[in-house]
Amino acid sequence: MPPILPVCSSQSPTPDDAKFGYFDWLEEDCVKHTGWVAATEFVRRPSMVGSAFPATARMVRHMLAPINWSDIRLFVEYGPGSGRFTFAILERLPGDAKLLAVETGEAFVTKLRQTCQDPRLIPVEGSARDVRRHLRDKGLGQADCILSGLPFSMLDKDEAEMIMFETSMALKPNGLIAAYQMRTAIRPLIDRHFTKVRHGFEWWNIPPCHLYWASGLRNVESLNGERLPR
Ligand SMILES: C[S@@+](CC[C@H](N)C(=O)[O-])C[C@H]1O[C@@H](n2cnc3c(N)ncnc32)[C@H](O)[C@@H]1O
Repeated sequence: MPPILPVCSSQSPTPDDAKFGYFDWLEEDCVKHTGWVAATEFVRRPSMVGSAFPATARMVRHMLAPINWSDIRLFVEYGPGSGRFTFAILERLPGDAKLLAVETGEAFVTKLRQTCQDPRLIPVEGSARDVRRHLRDKGLGQADCILSGLPFSMLDKDEAEMIMFETSMALKPNGLIAAYQMRTAIRPLIDRHFTKVRHGFEWWNIPPCHLYWASGLRNVESLNGERLPR
């Protein structure tokens, strides 16, 4: 059985973390306990899930490394899947911060609720497209950081546009979007909404992925033509 995940308030393991086995579990058993749901969900909904393999520990570290964790009060994750990023985010997140995890796959959400009792985690079954509604429903404001693992190259063009627009509206003006993708379909969308974009690449993942970190929100028009002030 995986441990009931404790509350972690800093990046370094504490004696309590060692007692609960949180860090050992993250490194060694997480794939074993959550890999099966990732594989079965991929077989059921290949275009929504994008990959049968959860992100590697190396990609997770690479993606999360540039984030300034002490400044984060509200973090949003799109597509937590089997939770490889979710658990690593909780490991780094300040004790008084929140993590809203938005996932379309019911089986993933159920597994996440079963394996993680951390009160900072708020799992929601639904689409990233409705992120602002999910935030409102949970009484939360704008996010400091949004992490996307969505397979943008497989999304319908309007859906992809709408998700990026809603993301830009759900972020604080100085907020950061961090996104990983096996293809580069997300790049033009990011460029349209953000002024500062950094790109990286991680070979040590199945499949290898492009990584993006972007900030500096622009004023852009939504799909129905309204120009929204920030
Ligand atoms: C490539 S997997 C990433 C899984 C996990 N984050 C990882 O790195 O191992 C993409 C995930 O996004 C979810 N997803 C797809 N479309 C979504 C949407 N519109 N809103 C929220 N989640 C979505 C899928 O169900 C899947 O869990």
